[in-house]
Amino acid sequence: MSSVLGSRVRRIFLGLAACLLVGALAIGGGFVWVYSSADVSTVGTVDFDRELAVPPLAQSRVEADGTRVFELDMRSGQREFEPGTVTPTWGFNGDYLGPTLRAGRGERVRVVVRNGLPETSSVHWHGMHLPAAMDGGPHQPVEAGATWTPQWVVDQPAATLWYHPHPHGETESHVRRGLAGMFILDDADSATVGLPRTYGVDDLPIIVQDARFRNGQLYGAHAIFRDVGFLGDRILVNGTLSPYREVGDELIRLRLLNASTARMYNFGFADDRRFAVVGTDGGLLERPVPVDRVQLSPGERAEVVVRMSPGERVTLRGYPLEAGLASFDQRFSGGDDSFDILQLRAAETLRPATELPSEQVRAQTPDGSDSVRERGFDIQFARINGQQMDMGRVDATVTRGTTETWVVRNIDGMPHNFHVHDVQFRVLSVDGSPPPAVLRGPKDTVYIAPGSTVRLALRFDGPADPGTPYMFHCHLIWHEDQGMMGQFVVVEPGGAAAAPSHHGGH
Ligand code: C2O
Ligand code: CU
Ligand code: CU
Repeated sequence: MSSVLGSRVRRIFLGLAACLLVGALAIGGGFVWVYSSADVSTVGTVDFDRELAVPPLAQSRVEADGTRVFELDMRSGQREFEPGTVTPTWGFNGDYLGPTLRAGRGERVRVVVRNGLPETSSVHWHGMHLPAAMDGGPHQPVEAGATWTPQWVVDQPAATLWYHPHPHGETESHVRRGLAGMFILDDADSATVGLPRTYGVDDLPIIVQDARFRNGQLYGAHAIFRDVGFLGDRILVNGTLSPYREVGDELIRLRLLNASTARMYNFGFADDRRFAVVGTDGGLLERPVPVDRVQLSPGERAEVVVRMSPGERVTLRGYPLEAGLASFDQRFSGGDDSFDILQLRAAETLRPATELPSEQVRAQTPDGSDSVRERGFDIQFARINGQQMDMGRVDATVTRGTTETWVVRNIDGMPHNFHVHDVQFRVLSVDGSPPPAVLRGPKDTVYIAPGSTVRLALRFDGPADPGTPYMFHCHLIWHEDQGMMGQFVVVEPGGAAAAPSHHGGH
């Protein structure tokens, strides 16, 4: 009896153990499959059979008082990214992306923004120093059918800025559908410094986005374990899939903008040639920095200059990331992915170019020596200092005319970056060491590896507006949408923040 019972128990036990083993193997096998199919590479498989589109320079009119007026219409449309497949899109003044706005330092600009979309959106001038009410963040929504007309005086160095929607909680889907454009600023230095500067000829906007097409649609779902947000498997440059560009100059300037919502790029050329980084988010570096890679997280820009030889073809490539990620996060954040992005085709005869300038501009960001205050920001998904974004809560009140030091720590295992509206800051240190040369120019967005700490010096030149906040946030846009964002206001000395007010477009 007891031996019969004993053998039955043993049988049941063995059966259970077998089930568990099979289950564990299935889960393990499933994980191995998910892990090993999670990386993407298009290296060697891109035909480069479409000419790179260059966004047109936006038309503008100058009013009697000198104000330069642009018009931006947000609209839905459609585009054939691949011949024969019509994809629904959103764009500014067209079906996808928008024109390049361009203005000079000291100019007053006004933009007539019309929202022809079926939902509320906004237009934010990323990298621009301007009054908070003109910033285009979540406090300046533009309702469907409404018009919003911000204006400001450009008062910052020549730079490659950009514009994109910033509706609260919906920014990822608006940007991913095509709402983004470049905003180039010029100044006296940029005209004389000796860098290539003929737009669309030797000075090219390079707006890099990843996309995934499914049944002709731009697909936006996040795959399993992609805590960074949406990752695509194809690359669009200026909205062109598989692009090439013929160039006729020895020196070509590329204004690289990572307008992807979550993907980071480690840019380099397929032959590992060296090139020069001449500018960062908010302007030119003091001097060109020779590199063979430059890495950009979402929202960041780099201006680079590459030297071409007659008749050659060279591919701009996205290499696996060097982003301080553990292997699981590296794999599921797109870190092991690689892409052939753009082919440059040099003419048989090239217009000769001089050497790059050895000195470009004087540093204009604060060095932190006059900081009046230090603040800490611990960032993790999807919180800053333990709190999620609240439109009614002001997280920091800064005094107009002062410099502060902000210490930002990524206390997560995940990659994040940190973007601050209104200012261009200086990176003082990364984990206690001086920043690499390519981070020494003006920045508004900086990558922060897991466990890393960056110290930033920021000067708040105003104007003060105690009732209208600016944002700071992670620019992995889904993280921002999930609440990884905070608000600061600029006040006059001795002033206090007021309850945030809403100014919509009507
Ligand atoms: Cu590029 Cu708050 O944004
Ligand atoms: Cu911004
Ligand atoms: Cu983030």
